[in-house]
Amino acid sequence: MTIADPVNEKVLPEDFIPPYPFRFETMPPVWKLIGMAKKNFLAIWGVEDFRGRLRSRKVFTRELVVCNRPDVVREAFQANHETLQRKSPQMRHALEPLLGDGLFVSDTETWAKRRKVVAPIIHGSRVPGFAPIMVDTIVEKRAEWAALENGAQIDALAEMAHLTAEIICRTIFGRQLGKNYASEVVQGFSDYQKYIDQVDMISMFGLPEWLPRFRGNAIRKSKERILSVLDEIIDSYQAQKEAGEASVIGGLLEARDEDGNPLSRDAIRNEAAVIFMAGHETTANTLAWTWYLLSQSPRVAIGCATRSREASTGSSTNFCGLRPAR
Ligand code: HEM
Repeated sequence: MTIADPVNEKVLPEDFIPPYPFRFETMPPVWKLIGMAKKNFLAIWGVEDFRGRLRSRKVFTRELVVCNRPDVVREAFQANHETLQRKSPQMRHALEPLLGDGLFVSDTETWAKRRKVVAPIIHGSRVPGFAPIMVDTIVEKRAEWAALENGAQIDALAEMAHLTAEIICRTIFGRQLGKNYASEVVQGFSDYQKYIDQVDMISMFGLPEWLPRFRGNAIRKSKERILSVLDEIIDSYQAQKEAGEASVIGGLLEARDEDGNPLSRDAIRNEAAVIFMAGHETTANTLAWTWYLLSQSPRVAIGCATRSREASTGSSTNFCGLRPAR
């Protein structure tokens, strides 16, 4: 077995190659890969899996497909989404206890109906409206860092996870409630994600869908912790509305489907949990990588800083005024 070792590649400043996961040149046996996948799903691929436009591999009874190019991803997620839209059994079984029939887990008709109602609430065009919450939270984080002693080191990923969790909590639940409940919800989600299975062995072996999956007590406890906060927030929405506070959960409560019907209480709770899960780790990882990459290119870092200064007036940032740095 040989492994490509990016660390030993010659890296010149002008052709900087960011670190990337190990990739096998000769694939180890499937049973070994499954053991690895349970810990890190990115660690199980070979050199060719990263090069090919579209790759597929049979693992026991299931066929795994890797889409490597934007055009293939577009084909899977847009052009052919009706045929390919089924969520993976791993995702369904791992997340259903917490997310119920939320968008991450649902398929076909439930998904299509729900998506029409939820998509406008989190559409990109809503981002400028959430900018004041983002700026407030960033300013608080900046003050926290400014209070550290000179030369102090911070863990960029942990800090970004904290920042994006605060922002998503305040965005979903409203500024004040989000602030109060953020650490409770964040802890609940991080416990839940720690205990769920990364690989669904039952479906890998082609065994029936209905077979029960073993779930430990820790999963139940973290699920209850999250759901009780969501219930409390939904219950207190009226007061929040009267205080004039905008929030995603408010959008879900006010939303109506094509027939003019509101979402059920369970649906609101499920979609709020989906949006939290979808919007927090993804952005934290992206930001941590962004800081790392910027630290490797002072020219681009200076360009970004200039653009963001141009778009800022006092403490309020005009998101629409941001232009890409070159
Ligand atoms: C860099 C940031 C992000 C990345 C890389 C990302 C990536 C993805 C991917 C790959 C999926 C498809 C998952 C699947 O079906 O297997 C997805 C779904 C979704 N994401 Fe994101 N996401 C990001 C940020 C966000 C944010 C900020 C939100 C909301 C505030 C969000 C909300 C959603 C929702 C609701 C879905 C489910 C859509 C559906 O099935 O109809 N995402 N995201």
